[in-house]
Parts: sequence; structure tokens; C-alpha cells
Amino acid sequence: MTKIFLVLVLLQTLFNILVVASAGNLNQDFDLTWGDGRAQILDNGQLLTLSLDKTSGSGFRSKNQYLFGKIDMQIKLVPGNSAGTVTAYYLSSLGSTHDEIDFEFLGNLSGDPYILHTNVFTQGKGNREQQFYLWFDPTKDFHTYSILWNPQSIIFSVDGTPIRQFKNLESKGIPFPKNQAMSIYSSLWNADDWATRGGLVKADWSKAPFTASYRNFNAQACTWSSGSSRCSSSSSSGSSSWLSQSLDATGQERIKWVQKNYMIYNYCRDTKRFPQGFPAECSLA
Ligand SMILES: *[C@@H]1O[C@H](CO)[C@@H](O)[C@H](O)[C@H]1NC(C)=O
Repeated sequence: MTKIFLVLVLLQTLFNILVVASAGNLNQDFDLTWGDGRAQILDNGQLLTLSLDKTSGSGFRSKNQYLFGKIDMQIKLVPGNSAGTVTAYYLSSLGSTHDEIDFEFLGNLSGDPYILHTNVFTQGKGNREQQFYLWFDPTKDFHTYSILWNPQSIIFSVDGTPIRQFKNLESKGIPFPKNQAMSIYSSLWNADDWATRGGLVKADWSKAPFTASYRNFNAQACTWSSGSSRCSSSSSSGSSSWLSQSLDATGQERIKWVQKNYMIYNYCRDTKRFPQGFPAECSLA
């Protein structure tokens, strides 16, 4: 009797350890890089918070560098009056010809909509902004923001709904990020000179500190270290590997739905900005 009980206790303990291990630990994946104590990892590595006050913002960076991956993070944005604040969450390599894949969340007055700003840089050149409203209040709960980056395309998703795709069109002469490993970065900072209604609405420092929260980081990815790459194998669930994943018919429909109903800016439609014609990928995408 006691033996069976002991075995059960042991099994339970083992199970708990496995569950905790698979939930990950943000201490293992990220370094707090700036903000002098304003960035914190809490709850035994299950929660990360960034904060911003009048003196400083804060930020973190992944310990790993990645060359392709499917990278998910749950983020809960600054609640209440977040006007003037920007929460940036992005992948980037280093140097003047760097590649970069950006999510930036532009805060707003209480009850007014956040803007999700996206961009893709290849070999140091960006200017590929697309902006969206979200179909939910991103400050009420955590939502999952994902970047699928593989040799065929980059797909931005929100709660599993694709919102933007940047295809590999190297065959048409458009550079695609595939040779430079990138780290994951996030920061919360004051951008009240441009972020909210183009800078009209300033941060209200009486509401500081402003706080954004992160949890449930998950990367199926190729990590890059000292010149070689190690990839996590595709899941055994029978679904195709993230490395060869592309938008299926449902994904195409979803992206159209988002672009029709929630897109508020697309560089590919900005005739004022590109009077001589749009960048080549606009007509090929
Ligand atoms: C903030 O709210 C205003 C008014 O609804 C809206 O025009 C603007 O796009 C919103 N977002 C930002 C970041 O300015």
C-alpha cells in the first residue's frame, strides 16, 4: 500500500518537473539588457515585464541567435493610457546591412486602439511598413505574436491568424534574409514625438510606470553559434515542419480578411511616397 503510494508521489513529481520544463524558463532564453532594474523576470522564469518611466525604458535580448525559426511570444501590452509608448518586439541581425523583422505596438489613450506596426529590413533597407488595428484589446489579456521565418517566406501572425507575408522573391532580384543570424529583441520606450496620432498625443507621466508583460516564449528554430546551425526537429504531430511551412488556403483567406478589415497603412499603396512606382515586391507579392 505505502509502496504504491510512494510510486504515485514519485510519478506526480516527475510529471510536474516535465510540465515545468516544457513551459520553459525565460531566464534561460533572455538577458535583460537595459533599463537599470526596469526589466524583470518573475514567477520562477514564467513572466517577464518591461517598464518605462520618465527617466528610462527597458529591454531584453535573446541569449540565442537564430537563422530561421517559428517564434511565438505571448505579450500583454501597456494597459490604460499608453499614449506615446512603443513596445517593440523584433528579430534583428547586426551591422549596417542588417536584416530585421519587426512588430511594434504603438500605444494610445485609454480605450483608443493600439496600432500594430510591422516592417521587414533586408540588407539594411526597410521602408516596408504595414500597420494594423487589432480585432481585440491587446492590453486586456496575453495574445500570441508569432514570426515564421523560413527560406520561402516570413509570415507574421497574431493568435495564429496570419496578418502579413513577405515572400522570398530573390529570383526576381529582391533580397531575402537568409544569411545573417538574428537575435530576438524587445524594448519599451518613449516615442511620444511620433507614436500616437503622429505625435499629437503625448505620454502622461503621471500614469507611469508603464508596463508590458511577456510569457510562454516558444521557439522551434535553428540556433546559430560559432558558425554552425542546429535546428529543432519538426514536431511529431504529423503536421509539416515549420521549415517548409507556407500559407495554406485558410491562411490566404485569413490574411485577406485582416488586410481588408484591419490594415490601416500599406507602403505598397502609398502613391505619395513612391511617385515613381512601388517597390518591386509590391506587384509580385
Ligand atoms: C489612437 O486613436 C486614434 C483615435 O481613435 C486613432 O486615430 C489612432 O490611429 C490610434 N492609434 C495610434 C497609435 O495613434
